[in-house]
Amino acid sequence: MSARTILIAGNWKMNASIGMAEQLTGALTAWSARDGVELLVCPPFPYLVPVNASIANSGIKLGAQSCHAAESGAHTGDISAEMLADVGCTYVIVGHSERRTDHAEDDATVRGQGDAAHRAGLTAMVCVGETEAERDADKTLDVVATQLTGSVPDGATASNTVIAYEPVWAIGTGRTPTEAEVQDVHAAIRANLAARFGNEMADGTRILYGGSMKPGNAAGLLALADVDGGLIGGASLKAEDFTAIADAAG
Ligand code: PGA
Repeated sequence: MSARTILIAGNWKMNASIGMAEQLTGALTAWSARDGVELLVCPPFPYLVPVNASIANSGIKLGAQSCHAAESGAHTGDISAEMLADVGCTYVIVGHSERRTDHAEDDATVRGQGDAAHRAGLTAMVCVGETEAERDADKTLDVVATQLTGSVPDGATASNTVIAYEPVWAIGTGRTPTEAEVQDVHAAIRANLAARFGNEMADGTRILYGGSMKPGNAAGLLALADVDGGLIGGASLKAEDFTAIADAAG
């Protein structure tokens, strides 16, 4: 049993409307919060402000799905970490595999975004994970270690950083690694953090699992020693599934 607060994070990806956001957050705020479990919602940028209003005083945290490394300036279409903090975010996801693929974000880009999050006072959720070909070639731990070294900012602490392990082949596919495989990768991530930042940081840092987490598999995954929560895509769009996953924690 660790002292780490479980974090159940909903990554809405490019899914929402004003009506859907109102309905979903309405149902989430009706969920009875439990000690030791924190809920986070990460809607698309245009919905941050209304969602922030809907979750006011509920204890549910607000996060964004990406940010730019710069504070402001000539970056058409981009959003800075300072803007996210200004509208009520306390978290931002960086380095999600869909960003790495769709926007060619590499480890250096992700590290810059993580630095920006820290500069703005946000917690950076740094995503790592192997492709199916990399897992088949038995390269999972190497790939994840390289991503951690490249993507996690030097200023990372247990309070300003969360790691999300998301095997690319498990995202949105209904497939997951076995519980033993998940625990192996999470333990390796914690050991990697300990080697670089020391034991206290590594012991305090939340490491989430993401990739087809659902009410049916959440209890087993969340019970693993080094799994401190979930980053949930599809199942975060249905309030009853998202809260069922939160209820499965602990
Ligand atoms: P999924 O997505 O839960 O739909 O697999 C997880 C994620 O990409 O964050």
